[in-house]
Amino acid sequence: PELFAPERPNSKGFDLTHRPTLEAIDTARDGFKATRWTAAPLLACEASVGETAPMVNPADPHDTVGEITWASPATVRAAAGAATRWDASPEERAAVLIRAADLYEENYGELFALLHREAGKTLMDAVAELREAVDFLRYYAAHAAGAPARGVFACISPWNFPLAIFTGQIAAALAAGNGVLSKPAEQTPLIAWRAAQLLHEAGVPRSVLQLLPGAGDVGAALTSSPEVAGVAFTGSTETAQIIHRSIAEHLAPGTPFIAETGGLNAMIVDSTALPEQAVRAVIESSFQSAGQRCSALRCLYLQEDIAPHVIEMLKGAMDALSPGLPWKLSSDLGPVIDAEAHEGIAAHVAEARADGRLMHQIAVPHTGHFIGPAMIRVGGIEDMEREIFGPILHIATFKAQDLDKVIDTINGTGYGLTFGLQTRIDDRVQHVTDRIEAGNIYVNRNQIGAIVGSQPFGGEGLSGTGPKAGGPLYLDRFREHAQTGPVG
Ligand code: SER
Repeated sequence: PELFAPERPNSKGFDLTHRPTLEAIDTARDGFKATRWTAAPLLACEASVGETAPMVNPADPHDTVGEITWASPATVRAAAGAATRWDASPEERAAVLIRAADLYEENYGELFALLHREAGKTLMDAVAELREAVDFLRYYAAHAAGAPARGVFACISPWNFPLAIFTGQIAAALAAGNGVLSKPAEQTPLIAWRAAQLLHEAGVPRSVLQLLPGAGDVGAALTSSPEVAGVAFTGSTETAQIIHRSIAEHLAPGTPFIAETGGLNAMIVDSTALPEQAVRAVIESSFQSAGQRCSALRCLYLQEDIAPHVIEMLKGAMDALSPGLPWKLSSDLGPVIDAEAHEGIAAHVAEARADGRLMHQIAVPHTGHFIGPAMIRVGGIEDMEREIFGPILHIATFKAQDLDKVIDTINGTGYGLTFGLQTRIDDRVQHVTDRIEAGNIYVNRNQIGAIVGSQPFGGEGLSGTGPKAGGPLYLDRFREHAQTGPVG
């Protein structure tokens, strides 16, 4: 049995089919149903701050989750001046990160409530998110020893994994001995603030981790601060390009930039695939987290012969989905993050409806920023001008003899994040996976939910610089004497 034991066990998470577990979760989070968190920059010095604003639940406009006081560019300058690297031994850093993982788990009720109410995450998503955050802490802690730290990193994280990616970037920088100036997404500052408090409580010194909640002006101030020795970013490809230019203009030559960005992810289902398995994988990959994952399936290619049958099955499976309030166990998907996201996705669906390409859409609650999961016909992935970051599945069909053309078209988007293949032909698995250019390739399963340590996650081309998060090469970029070029 030792032979198969994982080198480093991942978090156990929660079994949501087990009634006593569900009751315990309810008890743990119930006290936070009406909490109003009050959050502000966490700094190692005196500094002026920006304005204060309410944060509202994306599923319910009547639920004010709390108030955030923003950082301003002046806050960034003061924090950068007070920031230090982490002068503790690797063993001590690892112990603190492991303690933080334990504190995250102990505080799961509050973190789940924040994930539901500030980020619109369902219970299943909240469980997965906490697991991933904890896994990052423990995994990077296990790799804390190594070459010296670079200095102070700017960590700029997204709203779609407001706990996991926020924590992953910081944990990597800290494990290697760097200091961190963290700017969480402006949609989810309360979760970040609570998590940063737990990191401080675990023993991360205040000067080593400062939190700078804010919008683009705070990000711009960070990526032009001369004290910054490296930048870790997850978010859109456009923002990554802006940061890249800022680093080139303002920071020292060779400053590492680690970016995880968008994708136009495809799945190919051939006529030998098991339809039930394919349908399940498509539904999970497209609609889980309301499609707000960079890994999510955007364009499904069905081989012509099986397309009508699989499309009917997909419609049935979509009808069985239950969008609803994130707090409820019965909700399969929640809202999209905010009014702006809602508007962009709804416009895309309206355009498809007007063109007669909307194949199916299911109903959703009328409050909050809900979008009904939809299926839209396209000629191919080349018809998609941009990543639609919501619960929208695009479907194209292909003839058996055109498989290689389909692969060329998918590669031709320039993105390369995730890819899925459903087939029962072994040679085809080999052929397609050899040719497709994507960071994470999944065969005969869904294409989301990479596991820290087992499935390092990251893309190539327009999808990111590498190295992959949750993998053995990631920490090297946060240390001196590491490669400076992109690593696959
Ligand atoms: N790590 C996430 C996933 O694999 C990224 O969005 O789904």
